[in-house]
Amino acid sequence: MKKDKKLVIANWKMNPETTVEAKKLFLQIGKEASGLRNVETVVCAPFVFLSELKRVYKGGTLSLGAQDLFWENKGSYTGEISPTQLKNTGVRFVILGHSERRALWETNSDVNKKIKMALKQGFRVIFCVGEKERDRQGEHLQFLKEQLIEGLQKVSSKDMKNIIIAYEPIWAIGKTEEDAITPQSLHEMILFIRKILVTIYNKNIALDAKVIYGGSVERGNAHNILTEGTAEGFLVGHASLNTSEFGDILKIANSV
Ligand code: PGA
Repeated sequence: MKKDKKLVIANWKMNPETTVEAKKLFLQIGKEASGLRNVETVVCAPFVFLSELKRVYKGGTLSLGAQDLFWENKGSYTGEISPTQLKNTGVRFVILGHSERRALWETNSDVNKKIKMALKQGFRVIFCVGEKERDRQGEHLQFLKEQLIEGLQKVSSKDMKNIIIAYEPIWAIGKTEEDAITPQSLHEMILFIRKILVTIYNKNIALDAKVIYGGSVERGNAHNILTEGTAEGFLVGHASLNTSEFGDILKIANSV
């Protein structure tokens, strides 16, 4: 398996409330991230802040990401944001299939259409998967398998280098580090994800795919999630709104 930088992605969700706060947070995160050579830091901010964040940030350490995009590039789609519009604001990453969007209405097939469009337009896609709950019969594994197979329908092996799989069990999102997955269980889930990727693609693609974890990552569990849990990075929600906490997470990722 190739060893490269850890990928730490901030998912600000629908925060903060003002551009002033967004700029402040972004610049502080930029400071925390600077000089960390073993970690790649991405901030996925709400659409309305992206241009301004791009404009004010002069450092080279942070990349900008969006939290969604639409599967068409042109046309009458009130309220949607096109891949080209996003690209023109300097965004290179996009979160797709986040459970909070799936909870609203998004199906595996919608996520798949968005993934294909995003890849076509040259984005790096943070493809979120994860089960709502666990059960003894292993139905959650079947659920995850379907999300992967349907989400990656007609995504070529070549394009897999631009896919980051973010395993985010819904039961672990938005809580505290005590509620996050155990490293052992995460390790098993990552193996399961790679096993599915072998069936869709091949062993090399499955081993090379970048798999990160999201769901109540905080400074207290970050180290074990990367080491014992074998995640190659994080998708961080609430802790990414706290500069000191997020800064510690970045340092941990840098040192592992
Ligand atoms: P959380 O969110 O870190 O607050 O659990 C993660 C996510 O939803 O991406």
